[in-house]
Amino acid sequence: MWKNRDVISILDFSREDLEYLFEAADKIYEYLISSSVPRLLEGKVVSLAFFEPSTRTRLSFEVAAKRLGAITIGFSGEEGISVAKGESFADTIRMLDAYSDLIIVRHRYEGAALYAAEIAKVPVINAGDGKQHHPTQAMIDLYTVKRLYGHIDGLVYGVLGDLRYSRAASSFILALTRFSPEKLYLISPKLLRAREEVKMVLRQAGIVFEEVESLEEVIHELDVLYVVRIQRERFPDPQEYEKVKGSYRVTLSLLEKRAKPTLKILHPLPKVDEVEPRVDNSRFAAYFYQAKLGIPLRMALLALILRGEV
Ligand code: NCD
Repeated sequence: MWKNRDVISILDFSREDLEYLFEAADKIYEYLISSSVPRLLEGKVVSLAFFEPSTRTRLSFEVAAKRLGAITIGFSGEEGISVAKGESFADTIRMLDAYSDLIIVRHRYEGAALYAAEIAKVPVINAGDGKQHHPTQAMIDLYTVKRLYGHIDGLVYGVLGDLRYSRAASSFILALTRFSPEKLYLISPKLLRAREEVKMVLRQAGIVFEEVESLEEVIHELDVLYVVRIQRERFPDPQEYEKVKGSYRVTLSLLEKRAKPTLKILHPLPKVDEVEPRVDNSRFAAYFYQAKLGIPLRMALLALILRGEV
């Protein structure tokens, strides 16, 4: 079901695939707690090809691979590698294909991971391509909801922020189409609304969703609030960024006044100024737990792709 698969878009996966992955992640979670992680990837080499900056995604994939006994090779940024000498993306991928058993790619261009998967014989995991997809983040996000609530269906979700340029937000929204949320609110300033291609998938899947401009309007209904930062680096025009800068912020006083006491806030991180720091230590914040779950989830993913089982 998972062996040798590429991971390019969250839409490549069915509900059954995802549920199987979450069960595997639960198993790994237990191994981690009891310090008895089997070296399932002994002898394997995993490439980390990060053409664009990353903290969590790169480090958590690296930890995930190493904890399972694999060796990792790779780079972060284009300065230190031959791309700086003019080597093509395709040639870089060909080399990694020859040196390793799996390639994890992050790139600022949409479609880069798909292109890498067409070139490489070994499986390719998309760790973020431009504003388009970030499937493994969406897997972590759903897994976090599953661990917090015990289920993903039947909840009211809000996704707040830069829905236009955030690949994490788009991938999370698309991931929800594999389940049955009660309702989904897309909350953003007009300029940062979700792209039409994303909304089309929601409509096709029959997801009940509504676009609103302010969190205040809907906060009292939400079970899960997913927040993303404004993706400043992806704005084609700096003046457009100026128009929306600081246009949304989650504050503790709003949460305490209006949110359900059980509301959980997710965020793929990095946070900039869209969540008031005071929220971090409140019962609402689930984003550090979410980041932590990145390890068992990515371990499960690597083990399923490279071995077919955990
Ligand atoms: C996200 C990304 O790179 O898309 N970060 C991550 O992988 N956790 C979110 C972001 O940069 O805002």
